[in-house]
Amino acid sequence: MKVSLNGTWKYKCDAEQLGEHENWHNPLFIKENWDLLSSYELPCCWNSIVEDGIPRYDRFEGFFWFFRQFELEPDSTKEYYLEFKGVNYSCKIWVNGSYLGDHQGGFVPFKLKIPQKILEKTNYLAVEVENIRKFERIPAKYFDWFNWGGIYRDIDLHILPKLHFQWIQIFTKKLGSNSAILKIKYKLTQKSKIRWQIFQNNQSIANGESKTPTKLGEFDVIIPNPALWSPISPNLYQFHAHLQDGEDSINERIGIRIIEVRQDGLYLNHKKIRIRGISLHEELLPYGRTIPKEDRLRDLKMIKKLGFNTLRTAHYSHDETLIELADELGLLILEEIPVYWYCDFANPESLKSAAYQLQSLILRDFNHPSVILWSVGNEIPVEHRNCYNFINRLMQYARKLDSSRIITYVSNRMFADKLRIKADIPCINLYLGWYLGSERNLNFILDSIYETAPNRPWLITEFGAGAQYKFHSEAYEKFSEEKQASIITHSIETFNSKDYIAGWILWNYRDFRSALRTNKYQQGFNRKGIFSEKNEPKLIAKLIPRIMKKKVEKRRFKFLPKYSILLRPVEIALFSLGFQYLQEIFNRTLFNKFYRNKPLPKE
Ligand code: GCU
Repeated sequence: MKVSLNGTWKYKCDAEQLGEHENWHNPLFIKENWDLLSSYELPCCWNSIVEDGIPRYDRFEGFFWFFRQFELEPDSTKEYYLEFKGVNYSCKIWVNGSYLGDHQGGFVPFKLKIPQKILEKTNYLAVEVENIRKFERIPAKYFDWFNWGGIYRDIDLHILPKLHFQWIQIFTKKLGSNSAILKIKYKLTQKSKIRWQIFQNNQSIANGESKTPTKLGEFDVIIPNPALWSPISPNLYQFHAHLQDGEDSINERIGIRIIEVRQDGLYLNHKKIRIRGISLHEELLPYGRTIPKEDRLRDLKMIKKLGFNTLRTAHYSHDETLIELADELGLLILEEIPVYWYCDFANPESLKSAAYQLQSLILRDFNHPSVILWSVGNEIPVEHRNCYNFINRLMQYARKLDSSRIITYVSNRMFADKLRIKADIPCINLYLGWYLGSERNLNFILDSIYETAPNRPWLITEFGAGAQYKFHSEAYEKFSEEKQASIITHSIETFNSKDYIAGWILWNYRDFRSALRTNKYQQGFNRKGIFSEKNEPKLIAKLIPRIMKKKVEKRRFKFLPKYSILLRPVEIALFSLGFQYLQEIFNRTLFNKFYRNKPLPKE
């Protein structure tokens, strides 16, 4: 059974970090201060809390405490778990004054067991949260998104029999012309047989039971004439299983589909597909990351309506609700862990944290047919040996966890990336026309970059340009809607003219907050959205459907690109010598100006 702990909580900002010293986790403190503490509906980002009309914690980075009471009839035959779907960045948890444990990592769910002996009829839950950026964390200190803090996804209390399902993983192992073989793997807390059924439109189409009682088990199921999952026809099935020797059961919604990388492109269900995607940060004002389901649905419906078939949930896992909607609507999803820019690649703790977040993400989203790709990093300095090994190990680990999906990372090194040949598909971010050169150089640059990993399909995982909504310029000034539309239009046409490009993902769907974006057009927002932060459509949003349909002839440079390898030392020098240290100073200055370590004063 699952009891939601969403709802009214008490909170207290702890800018001076007094909470642990003054035992705020103690039920005595909570009871004595209950009426003095302010209330707020959780889940939430504390940045959105307004007190007497003042957004006091909008740019606050530091410590916050949250408190809640919950009633319970403790039952010695049951086990009790608290589940938090997302807390950014780290937290410590107490129940009735007893320390349950802590969690690091802002974008993945976690569960903590509550020992029976500490449970009462009335229970006091205290959670200390902090979102301080640290170099050894994942993400590290600087990133191009807003550092929302808090218990920002659902909180649940699970009341389970001692014998219960820990997880179940279902994927399409083989797809024939008129049948599919599914592989089902499961783990229980104790040995038991399981009985299972598969339903299509509420009709049972297959069932069975395991032969022997085990804790870990797996079996194959043949599905004749399967209704496959794809963006055009997102057919779903229900998988239901229950324990022969207990009362626990599990329901998983699944889709039958296979994704493959072949030499000439990406294949979904043995048919070649072209990725036409867009990226989205998990942010909608005034909610921050705690976005209502209907708003997420509206975003995905608009993305489909514009003609996109893919969404990259940059640069971290979004709420699972979004993935469930993508399963239903038919959008391919590229997911990622926030190994972003310069992390502490020499630190084993950073690798452990990245691997933990990757494992948690894959465990959470394994059964979603819309998810076709795991990316283990974005724009990382793979020319450095430590980073190269860090990313390579994460890709190997991802393949071990999930052999059914594409494993890769996203690079922005044009020639200095020697690791991309080890990815299932090379991915590159290219901002020709915005950050460097002109979009007219794209044609030659693409064929030159291709030579660093030839004879395989590529994904253009980011490209785009900024524009301030309603800034128009016939002279195509930077940050005008016309300039943005010109760069994006030309880029898409050039990508579509390359047979080795399996697809492209436009950066970004909606303008989003960032400490790095402070000029007069940006004012604290990255303006590469095709919609403003208020969902106002820019010129490019109106042109996209037409661009999608435009036919383009194929073209390639034959001779010169083969010598592109000569540019590798130039790029390494550029990134390794000047750029990295300049970027570090630039980022530190902007972040220090943008965020605060104490709340705004009351009236
Ligand atoms: C990079 C990065 C994004 C960033 C974008 C930009 O490619 O991956 O996170 O927002 O460029 O510069 O806007």
